[in-house]
Amino acid sequence: MRREAGLVAGRLAVECLADEPLAAHLSMRVGGPAAALLRPRGVEQTRALVGALARAGVPVRLLGGGSNVIAGDGRHDSVVVQPVAGAEDVVWDGARARVPGGLALGVLLREAMRRGLTGLEWAAGLPGSVGGAVVGNAGAFGGEMSRHVRAVELLGASGEVRRHAVGAGDFAYRSSFVGPDELVLDVDLELETGDTEAVRRETERVNRRRAATQPKGGHSSGCIFKNPEGDHAGRLIDACGLKGRRRGGARVSETHGNFIVNDGTATATDILELIEEVRAEVARRTGVSLELEIKIWQATPVAGEGSS
Ligand code: EPU
Repeated sequence: MRREAGLVAGRLAVECLADEPLAAHLSMRVGGPAAALLRPRGVEQTRALVGALARAGVPVRLLGGGSNVIAGDGRHDSVVVQPVAGAEDVVWDGARARVPGGLALGVLLREAMRRGLTGLEWAAGLPGSVGGAVVGNAGAFGGEMSRHVRAVELLGASGEVRRHAVGAGDFAYRSSFVGPDELVLDVDLELETGDTEAVRRETERVNRRRAATQPKGGHSSGCIFKNPEGDHAGRLIDACGLKGRRRGGARVSETHGNFIVNDGTATATDILELIEEVRAEVARRTGVSLELEIKIWQATPVAGEGSS
């Protein structure tokens, strides 16, 4: 499978990293090697690559900015596709923009500020890609991605392209209409006309609020759990006295209970065990069953493992 992926990538001149440690590409900084990491640039290359891999019978795993995935420590038998894009790939039309899914959210915010476009300041400091922010309907400080998305072009696992005009009911809290095997090729966003100085001030205000309430330093995946209806996962974890709880190099943040911080020495196993410990303790003490916001990519089981 790795060979086929390498051949397809070579033919299409797509960057291909063999046996690439996922830790280097995930904000939690853990995870063993993937058979191959393919990084197509721009919409056309991404479309051609996914289509060709499908025709070659190579199943793929899709990765956005890597801020919401925790990958297991062992080998990952999968071929991972992570589209990449730069500021020059965005097409601006007044307050509207067509943005590649692979663009880093931070780059989009910088460009919007430069153009005096307002609306996305709530996302200041968020890691991850625009595509990932759409799929998970990222939100913070009263803002939410869904408010700005007008249409999305999606690429299915077999290479077919589908354009979706956003309608009522397409987004909910931390979820969207995008299917698990669909890749966000590009997104039509609508912002509002403002001015650069006002956008800068609001961005700084958000940055200050984030710095006061969320951990700085170490590596993390943002919030681990979704907020349960009518409450906050961080508040529940805090109320259960779990802040500071440790497993190896992983600890529940003392600043915000819904963050797990890797001090740089944690393994994925440390983090996943700590997540389970927190979940079990919150369920035992409060009766609330917390649901994951992050995605877990289990490593490929070693042959013979788990068999009797
Ligand atoms: N709280 C505690 N202890 C804690 C953390 C929070 O008591 O350790 C209390 C706070 O005092 C506050 C309430 O819980 O009364 C809510 O806290 P916060 O304002 O930090 O918001 P949150 O619901 O915990 C959500 C998002 C964050 C986003 C912030 C800011 C989720 C799961 N989390 O957190 O998003 O940055 O609001 O608006 O929806 C993420 O999605 O990765 C993420 C970090």
